Amino acid sequence: MAVPVLNLKAQYAGIRSRIDAAVRSVLESGHFVLGPNVAALEEELGSFLGVASAVTMASGTDALHLALRALGVRAGDFVIVPAFTFIATATAVSYVGAQPVFADIEPGTFNLDPTHVNDCVEGKGPGRYVAGSVKAMIPVHLYGQPADMEPLLTVARSHGIAVVEDAAQAIGATYREKRVGGLGDVGCFSFYPTKNLGAMGDGGLATAQDPALGDHLLRLRVYGGRQRYLHEELGFNSRLDEIQAAVLRVKLGCLEEWTMRRRAIAERYRVGLAGLGVGLPAERPDSTHVYHQFTIRLPDRDAVQRRMAERGVQTAVYYPLPVHLQPMYHDLGYRSGDFPEAERAAREVLCLPMYPELTDGQVDEVVEAVKRSL
Ligand SMILES: Cc1ncc(COP(=O)(O)O)c(C=O)c1O
Repeated sequence: MAVPVLNLKAQYAGIRSRIDAAVRSVLESGHFVLGPNVAALEEELGSFLGVASAVTMASGTDALHLALRALGVRAGDFVIVPAFTFIATATAVSYVGAQPVFADIEPGTFNLDPTHVNDCVEGKGPGRYVAGSVKAMIPVHLYGQPADMEPLLTVARSHGIAVVEDAAQAIGATYREKRVGGLGDVGCFSFYPTKNLGAMGDGGLATAQDPALGDHLLRLRVYGGRQRYLHEELGFNSRLDEIQAAVLRVKLGCLEEWTMRRRAIAERYRVGLAGLGVGLPAERPDSTHVYHQFTIRLPDRDAVQRRMAERGVQTAVYYPLPVHLQPMYHDLGYRSGDFPEAERAAREVLCLPMYPELTDGQVDEVVEAVKRSL
């Protein structure tokens, strides 16, 4: 039995009539950008996430970019970013003219290590930066698991540093009973189709607890003004369209059930892969992991991936090269060896198929493929 790494056709098949009706009603309404579905989705997401403001945008990348702008981060500032994440976390910093300061991750959770962040704030991290000019940090809730926010927030508060959560992969995850995205100053989410809550195109969201910050995000997404043809500052065009909002409203209604299924699949993987010497993802006891990915570690990763593919089981490597070693950041002067855990993760991680529509039989097939490929 072949097992694809992702199957969005199966997801659509399960909710086809509701999606078709939602899209048709937008087509018939003649209202395509920032209309009633966007307004309703923002209400629904705001209450689901427990935040004062929920501002939809054109992508998760835009949410990160505009979050930093709304917080006043600009040229000459420095922003702490994990060395192991998707490139967009760092490029958002570059878009505002600031410079990313990379920090290493915890090996178990793949998320920012608070001790390393503290070192960075005190100017003891690798890289060329001015410690006193660190204006913000972007903890990423990678693979759907919350970063250890409490010590990060403590460091941030004691140094007057803003916190932008990159929750692109973690919608619905909780940390000490609060949903991620509502823990820092701004929370950023992606609705890219493969995400736990995915649109049928691009989309994103920025959330804030401070209504003034929420208002600023609203201005930034439409040309820098709330009133039509009055522009208070440099703004952008980062609007979500009605078709995507209508699709997302249908899928938001399924999200809790889908998350439960992801967690059940993760448990089946854990049981099936126990005792094989395969590194299994840690799950923080004070958090709920929403398993955007189920990521294992293997010293011989590339060979195992190849052998699994030969058996028809697809897997993925998120991410094969850490951000501090990306060619685009060559000029920042980081070197191989600066962040040993991020570099080891890039060599060892393998993401197994993970989506709610996977059957137990397929999960068992993946487990068998891992066993036979070791
Ligand atoms: C951790 C992380 N940050 C940011 C993004 C950017 O989101 P988008 O693709 O919606 O721009 C993504 C997803 O692609 C992501 O996984």
